Parts: sequence; C-alpha cells; structure tokens
Amino acid sequence: MEYEVAFIEGDGIGPEQAAATREILTQVGRALGTSLNLTIVEAGDRALKNLGEALPQNSLRAIEKSDCCLKGPVGQSAYDVIVRLRRELDLYANIRPAKSFPKVACISSQTDLVIVRENTEDLYSGLEAGDDQKATATRVITRRACQRIARYAFELARRRRREVIAIHKANVMKKTDGLFLTVCREVSDSYPDVSFSDMLVDAAAMNLIRNPQAFDVIVTTNMFGDILSDEAAQIVGGLGLVASANIGDHFALFEPVHGSAPDIAGKNIANPTSLILSAAMMLDWLGREKQDHDAAMAALAIQMAVEDCLSRGEVTPDLGGRLGTREMGMAIAERISK
Ligand code: NAI
Ligand code: MG
Repeated sequence: MEYEVAFIEGDGIGPEQAAATREILTQVGRALGTSLNLTIVEAGDRALKNLGEALPQNSLRAIEKSDCCLKGPVGQSAYDVIVRLRRELDLYANIRPAKSFPKVACISSQTDLVIVRENTEDLYSGLEAGDDQKATATRVITRRACQRIARYAFELARRRRREVIAIHKANVMKKTDGLFLTVCREVSDSYPDVSFSDMLVDAAAMNLIRNPQAFDVIVTTNMFGDILSDEAAQIVGGLGLVASANIGDHFALFEPVHGSAPDIAGKNIANPTSLILSAAMMLDWLGREKQDHDAAMAALAIQMAVEDCLSRGEVTPDLGGRLGTREMGMAIAERISK
C-alpha cells in the first residue's frame, strides 16, 4: 500500500539522519512494496528562523492531512514543536522501547523493556509563572489521562511478558502521583492476566541500572518518563539507538528519543539508527492500524537489517565503529535490498 508521511527532518543532526532514513525507505518501497510518500514539513529552529514560527500553521495542517508523521530531532524550539504537536494531535501515549542488541556494549544484554510515558500533562503543561525572585509550575494529573495511559500499558503488556510496573513518587506528591497510582491500580483490576506492581521513581532509577532485565512495561507520568527513557537508552547502548512513538487514537508521530545533538552536527558521525528505527516503528504501527501485513513485514525487515549491521560492527563512532552517518545508512539499505 501507499501512505502519506509528513516528514520533519529537524535541526542539528536531523537532516543527516533524515537522508540516511530516506535511502532506507526508498529500498523498502522497491523491495517490499510498501511505498511511503514523504512530504517535507518545516518545523523547528530552522522554521523559526526562516518562517518566524517553530510550528507554522501550514506545517500543522500538512501533518494533520497525512497518515502519520516521521520527525527528526529539533533544537531549542523543541517545546514549541513536539510538546505542542503531542497536545494538538492528542498523542497521549509516548512509547519508548529499550532493547539490547547483539554485540553492542550495554549494561545488560538481556534488557527488553518499554517505557509508556503519559504525554499530555504533568509538569509539561506549560503552566508556569514567576519573576526573578520566585517561580512556580503547576502539575496537572487527571483521571482521564491516567486511565488511558494505564490501559495502553496493560494492552501492550498482553503482547509481551504481561508485567506492568507503575513508577511514581506518590509518597511525596500525594495528590498528583497518588491519583496516578490509584487509577493504575483500578485499571489493573480489569487485567487479571497481567501482573501489576509499583515503584518509587528514585528507586526505579537505581534498579534500572542494577537489574534492567527485571522490567517489562513501565508506565509513568510525563517528566519521569522523559528522564527514565534517556537512562534506559544508555542501558542498551546509547541515545543513537533508540526510537519512540507518540500515539493517539487516530494518528501517530515517530521520532528519536534524543535531541538535535549540536555538538556533533554536520560531521557525518551521528548514528542514524534512532530515526531509522523510528521509521520501523511507524511501519509497524501502520501494519496494525491499517491491517497491512506488508507494512508490518517492512518494519521487521528494517529491524533485522539494523541488527545485522550492529552485530557486524558496521556502525558509527558512538558505538566504536568507523562508518559515517551516510555509510551506515547505506549499509542498512543494502541489506534490505538483498
Ligand atoms: P541530545 O539528546 O541532543 O544529545 C545528548 C548527547 O547524546 C550529546 O552528546 C549527543 O552528541 C549525543 N547524541 C544524541 N543523539 C545521537 C546520535 N544519533 N548519535 C550519536 N550521538 C548522539 O541532548 P542535548 O544536547 O541536551 O539537546 C540538544 C537540543 O535538542 C536542545 O536544544 C533540546 O531542546 C533539543 N531536544 C529536542 C528533542 C526533540 O526534538 N524531541 C528531545 C530532546 C532535546
Ligand atoms: Mg527527552
């Protein structure tokens, strides 16, 4: 089948990762019959500079008209792009898998967990006030948002090891995280086939390092999920490897977990894997959403091609390899064409 994809190339390393990913998606179209019609959509620091807005109306409209959105990392304007898109499009579930790869140095080679992060509220609601003496932020947690993120986590667990753990700080934030935990417990009653437990976020930060293979599906609030997912990325080998999905009831957006990495931009050394695997997550979502077996197979083919390159050490310098961004992208694309 053919799909319309709004493609935000992003800032910093974004365009380099985007070029490598485009190569792979072209191969997917040729070899596997799922063709993605990529339309470039301007958003981020470059859009702010050239068009006066980080997320211009035209871009938002183009995204809404497409089947889904693939997004590279953006820079300073991240809040105005991604936090806004998550809210405008009601992409309430942020799915961040962390799975170790063969032959990639990591903390535990048996790690296979997914962070399910609530994506629309918490301290990221933008409700801040203050002056140079005192500043405050309002933390919003609603029953509705807790319910739907908890349900998402339990449904996902049914396709995995059937274990959900809620991560929170309800001993201190008794109202907000108290509500989150109460609702997670209520939802768990409807899933007797899935085991449920909970853990304080500080202990979770430690246990993720000590024993990452003990985690299956983690469900948590927005900011804790943001922080823990960078930690989880490092556990499996680094930010250059991990992808994420922002999922709503009718639309989804896929992007790397990391930012625009200005420290390595323009040098052809960024690892393209995070955006390539984001594209694979997108195909997997299309496969399920549109009941398109070919798209699901294309997702699998990309994952296998990436794993093959990783296991042969055909990688960028962040993983100790000697390939450039472009060259690693080409190596993955070649495997797909075979
Ligand atoms: P970052 O995630 O961009 O980089 C952190 C570290 O990881 C850097 O040392 C970077 O070189 C490295 N790194 C990241 N991606 C890599 C890759 N693919 N290959 C190899 N190394 C990689 O975090 P930082 O530097 O704090 O933020 C930079 C900008 O990104 C900020 O302006 C921030 O606002 C933005 N940002 C955007 C996000 C988004 O678009 N969703 C998310 C997070 C940050
Ligand atoms: Mg983050």
